[in-house]
Amino acid sequence: MKNKIISVAPMMDWTTRHCRYFMRLLNQSIILYTEMVTTGAIFHGNHEKLLQYRPEEHPLVVQLGGSDPQELAQTACICEQRGFHEINLNVGCPSDRVQRGMIGACLMAHPGLVAEGIEAMKRRVAVPVTVKTRIGIDEQDSYAFLCDFVSQIAAAGCDTLIIHARKAWLKGLSPKENRKVPELMYERVYQLKQDFPTLTIILNGGVTTVSEVIAHCQQVDGVMIGRGAYTNPQLLCDIGEVFSPQLASLSLGEVIECYMKYCQEELSAGVALTSLIKPLLGLFQGMPGARAWRRHLSEQSHFPGVGVDVIAQGAEYVLG
Ligand SMILES: Cc1cc2nc3c(=O)[nH]c(=O)nc-3n(C[C@H](O)[C@H](O)[C@H](O)COP(=O)(O)O)c2cc1C
Repeated sequence: MKNKIISVAPMMDWTTRHCRYFMRLLNQSIILYTEMVTTGAIFHGNHEKLLQYRPEEHPLVVQLGGSDPQELAQTACICEQRGFHEINLNVGCPSDRVQRGMIGACLMAHPGLVAEGIEAMKRRVAVPVTVKTRIGIDEQDSYAFLCDFVSQIAAAGCDTLIIHARKAWLKGLSPKENRKVPELMYERVYQLKQDFPTLTIILNGGVTTVSEVIAHCQQVDGVMIGRGAYTNPQLLCDIGEVFSPQLASLSLGEVIECYMKYCQEELSAGVALTSLIKPLLGLFQGMPGARAWRRHLSEQSHFPGVGVDVIAQGAEYVLG
């Protein structure tokens, strides 16, 4: 399984910088993504804070939400200067709010605009510009529609696509429903790799085990894992053992110790303990004591004055 590209998906409210730091402790080589950051937020907000990360998180990709080519180019430049390893454009999010801003999956109906955005970004940055998309939207869900979209994106210079293997319904389904209701069609993604052999095609959607990652990697260039990475973070350790065995891995005890040190620094800088604890909740899934660990962390971390020791106390339920 050499040269396969394995990543953790961009996930709003999950792949925060704290979560990414924790995931990096579990796997030294997996590619991590930020939550989607809109071009508007980068322009009008505090981009230092929005794009904050620690160097340990690398390899790290920033995901942009936007469609105005000039804005995309300018924000891509800011992201490159801040050291991101790649710029990824979100063409997969179905929420009403982002649709109103011409962001996300609705852009599949406007391949020319996406292509312009890619060209504009590629003129300004040297790092790779990639696209995360779906296999279709609404009634535009034929394989021919997907191929036409991909051809236009590729002609604009994007050579890597991450394909969430289900279409999005832009009206009538919430983003949450859009992650489970339309059926997963892995064959479409496999076929895309056959028909566009020079493109790097990464499959996303519903992958929760190492054996599934391995099976998909027989057909495509890599796999992106979303929910499976936070419901069972140890999956990242298991993936490391198969895909990057040459890199040293930490024991779960060492991971906890390093993350507690990180939390102490962040707490001192004013970060709330609850947001530091959130990435830990799925750890130890399936092990004796996991439920007590989760309960201890979720109940105790809300009390004022509680410090990072709450993590060590919780870990005793599992590690003894
Ligand atoms: C809580 C949550 C937030 C998400 N936020 C984003 C996002 O910011 N950008 C994006 O492209 N996809 C987002 N997604 C979609 C995931 O990246 C991924 O495509 C989807 O969950 C399917 O993969 P999975 O079945 O492995 O979870 C989000 C998914 C979840 C569960």
